[in-house]
Amino acid sequence: MSSKTPQLRSRAWFNDPANPDMTALHIERYMNFGISQKELQDGRPIIGIAQTGSDLSPCNRHHLELATRVKEGIREAGGIPLEFPVHPIQETGKRPAPGLDRNLAYLGLVELLYGYPLDGVVLTIGCDKTTPACLMAAATVNIPAIALSVGPMLNGWFRGERTGSGTIVWKARELLAKGEIDEAGFIKLVASSAPSTGYCNTMGTATTMNSLTEALGMQLPGSAAIPAPYRDRQEMAYLTGLRIVEMVREDLKPSDILTREAFINAIRVNTAIGGSTNAPIHLNALARHIGVELSIDDWQNFGEELPLLVNLQPAGEYLGEDYYHAGGVPAVVNQLMRYGLIHEEAPTVNGRSLGENCRDAEITNEAVIRPFERPLKEKAGFRVLRGNLFTSAIMKTSVISEEFRTRYLSNPEDPDAFEGRAIVFDGPEEYHASIDDPALNIDANCILFMRGAGPIGYPGTAEVVNMRAPDYLIKAGVSSLPCVGDGRQSGTSGSPSILNASPEAAVGGGLALLRMGDRVRIDLKRGSADILISEEELEVRRQALEAAGGYQYPAHQTPWQEIQRGIVGQMDTGAVLEPAVAYQRIAQTKGIPRDSH
Ligand code: FES
Ligand code: MG
Repeated sequence: MSSKTPQLRSRAWFNDPANPDMTALHIERYMNFGISQKELQDGRPIIGIAQTGSDLSPCNRHHLELATRVKEGIREAGGIPLEFPVHPIQETGKRPAPGLDRNLAYLGLVELLYGYPLDGVVLTIGCDKTTPACLMAAATVNIPAIALSVGPMLNGWFRGERTGSGTIVWKARELLAKGEIDEAGFIKLVASSAPSTGYCNTMGTATTMNSLTEALGMQLPGSAAIPAPYRDRQEMAYLTGLRIVEMVREDLKPSDILTREAFINAIRVNTAIGGSTNAPIHLNALARHIGVELSIDDWQNFGEELPLLVNLQPAGEYLGEDYYHAGGVPAVVNQLMRYGLIHEEAPTVNGRSLGENCRDAEITNEAVIRPFERPLKEKAGFRVLRGNLFTSAIMKTSVISEEFRTRYLSNPEDPDAFEGRAIVFDGPEEYHASIDDPALNIDANCILFMRGAGPIGYPGTAEVVNMRAPDYLIKAGVSSLPCVGDGRQSGTSGSPSILNASPEAAVGGGLALLRMGDRVRIDLKRGSADILISEEELEVRRQALEAAGGYQYPAHQTPWQEIQRGIVGQMDTGAVLEPAVAYQRIAQTKGIPRDSH
């Protein structure tokens, strides 16, 4: 086997004639749990399993079991598996924001992949930010890497209806506000949406990012949609283990797969699946770490005009199991291929192109995945907005409801624009404390603003922009108000919000100049969002803000909060650790790190 294998980086640890002492030290320590000298020295690739599952991260916890099958695949193909932990990120559990941890897990994983004797790696992806953290690290180090999704939970059910994770919370909250359920019923309804191990079964950020990882070519075809508890998921784990060893022998690296064409494919797939507004942040970050040009405007230019095909909650009706049985990602890619919307030659981890992988993929349930000719919605991608409030923010226009359209977008002379009175909240605490306060006098002509929720202000970009209307308005039939902010929104929320505003208030973005009661105009056709005041007045406010020491945000609570605040960028460019972008393909450009003793 060793004759075909390219020079393995692990040989520097286990076979270094220039430093026999250290070679012995490296060998004896991996022998101490049962690996033999022969295995460590006969040219077998050493394959890391970057383990994101733990008790702290229930969404990815099933990877602890799947790793057994991954190891069997690696062993059978002639490799040696070494499983190690990745800094856990649980979307629902981490305070103040799991967005802080994506870059921390990234940073940690870069050190592990570069500094240990690893020839290739299996990335165990799943819960929202675990996927970009792993992919970003693999991009920076650029050793052969393959992703394995943990898979979504089984469908949730309540009284014969599907209940989707995350999405059901927003719905249950409305029922509670209307007095249709009590507190106990509220928890019961919400818990029904999480019936098994796995990640969110809706088209939230997890299903989005796992689907896009497959569309990018970074995991085996058909892998993303398999529900976590299914036997097929175990089989996929085994096949992934087999394949990564071959990838090391072929020297197939992330830089061979993550081309600009692959990203454009992913942007198009994102529209077709109804993907989360978090996808642009994570994919733009990944593109920067692999060195591919990708801008926030690419999301509108390549994605906006495409149709929505996948009928999953929150935009549609179905859930993860249905998505899998209807054909998953290959069926979606196949539909786009029919209209020339996929760069079919894009390489993938299995050694074949995306086009080859998806050529025969059929939709097997047209209620769940619609054919391109009969989409769920036309023009379902993201619109980029800009103006004196921010230099960019995005809106998923496809989730605008009929009720919303009638209320805000029905002026025949101005059908794509609306104006409103700004209600401004500095952080979610202020919003929770005062949204129902009659003194704010919120009516159906108001626009809700959330600021201080970005990478620096929060810190870590919290998903707090989707805000509910006051209870008294919900009872009167106004189920949602337009929301705008410099934070994010959960991918499981269907609110028509304007999100990811960059630059955020904390670094002096236009949102910091907004005042309670200002008139604001949003024009979806022109792609503009402005406070309706003069340039002069804006400048006066800007100077007043500077004189007051800038926009105020909470003090650091941990060392990492302070360190990240000092080096993190804004959401439009991926909210990455800016100094890290200069380190690219380091397994090739920096060589093997020097030895430690
Ligand atoms: Fe982990 Fe949704 S909270 S996937
Ligand atoms: Mg989330």
